[in-house]
Amino acid sequence: RVVDAAGNVLVPGIVDCHIHNREPGLEYKEDWRSATRAAAAGGVTTVVGMPNTDPVIDRPEHLELKFDRGEASAHVDFQSYAVVTSENLDLIPDLDEAGALGFKIFLGSTVGDVPPPNDGEVLEAMERIRETGKRLGFHEENGEIVDHYTERFKTEGRNRPIDHAHSRPVIAEREAVERTITFAAETGTKIHMFHVSSGAAAEAVARGKARGVDVTAETTPHYLWFTEDVLREKGNVARVQPPIRDADERERLWAIGIDDGAIDCIATDHAPHTPEEKGVDDPFADTWESISGFVGLETEVPAMLTFVDRGRLTIEEWVRRHSTRPAQVWGMYPRKGSLQIGTDADLTIVDPDAEWTLEDRRDLHSKHCVTPFEGESFTGKTVATIVRGEVVYENGDVVGDSGYGTRVDVDE
Ligand code: NCD
Ligand code: ZN
Ligand code: ZN
Repeated sequence: RVVDAAGNVLVPGIVDCHIHNREPGLEYKEDWRSATRAAAAGGVTTVVGMPNTDPVIDRPEHLELKFDRGEASAHVDFQSYAVVTSENLDLIPDLDEAGALGFKIFLGSTVGDVPPPNDGEVLEAMERIRETGKRLGFHEENGEIVDHYTERFKTEGRNRPIDHAHSRPVIAEREAVERTITFAAETGTKIHMFHVSSGAAAEAVARGKARGVDVTAETTPHYLWFTEDVLREKGNVARVQPPIRDADERERLWAIGIDDGAIDCIATDHAPHTPEEKGVDDPFADTWESISGFVGLETEVPAMLTFVDRGRLTIEEWVRRHSTRPAQVWGMYPRKGSLQIGTDADLTIVDPDAEWTLEDRRDLHSKHCVTPFEGESFTGKTVATIVRGEVVYENGDVVGDSGYGTRVDVDE
């Protein structure tokens, strides 16, 4: 941590290991260029893309295509997960060799056409991934519970934004976390829980760690910031999976996840969709017609700095979870996530005292910028972003070149 005369703070470059960059195939929502412009503007020097693209990243050719597109147009450094479905268990060693940062399983249906594997296939995937030495992350919701309540609510004509949240109950998340931890205890695989949204799930992670399972976990600024009241105030704009929970779950997520340390990483789950897909013209219309997810790359640093300002965590605890730990968890440390000065330095400069409001989402750099953080006020903002010694963002302008960003090679 370095402070200059103007009161700005220099921290190791922020590492966001959960973004949906949407390329290849879903460029109408976002692409590597627009996502990494948003990253640069947000103070994020490394991003990891999720595999629910089109095609899904389920074979080496698709991973190579995604890497090639990133090399051609990214503004900051990047990586990608490979997905495991019931159809590609045999390809795990090839995906490892093709340079995937890690693996991802969607336990239930989510955005995109990714068929969830059954429990036997999850166990077998774990055995195979253990041999690669890499980590397996989960979209940790029990799909059978979610599908059941979704169908039931639809039949009952419940279609408000809050009903979407309640159709994906906390128990669906907690059960998925407990089940995968049990499997990992059996197989010895390193696992990770993406986008932990509740105190109950954080508690399950804490118990897994106490059992000696190598389980790491992530949460996002929106689960720490909002309660489900935001669905009553902003409607489907705030629709996301897992859903934003009630105040009690949020407080327990803070207590168990952040204060007691069950949560290793902060990431955004940056998930852009068009305003039409989100249904912003009428955010309280039929929730089942809307889609889950919203952008986050440019509000994650301000949101976390606001928590620092409010005394919810120290700046060191923030930096550890938003740079050092994610780099360690996914095998990129110390090339990423450490405070080095020199030509290889990834650095983020923030003004922790700047007070501002996100008045208009169109000031953001993604292709489509729908976010429940529109209208929210922050204390703290990104001043400059430096990737491998080059300034890529400074005082409101993305100044780096498209294509400067490069894949983080974890197999060197
Ligand atoms: C994500 C998306 O849009 O791809 N949406 C979301 O609500 N989180 C999918 C996901 O992260 O599961
Ligand atoms: Zn997910
Ligand atoms: Zn996601």
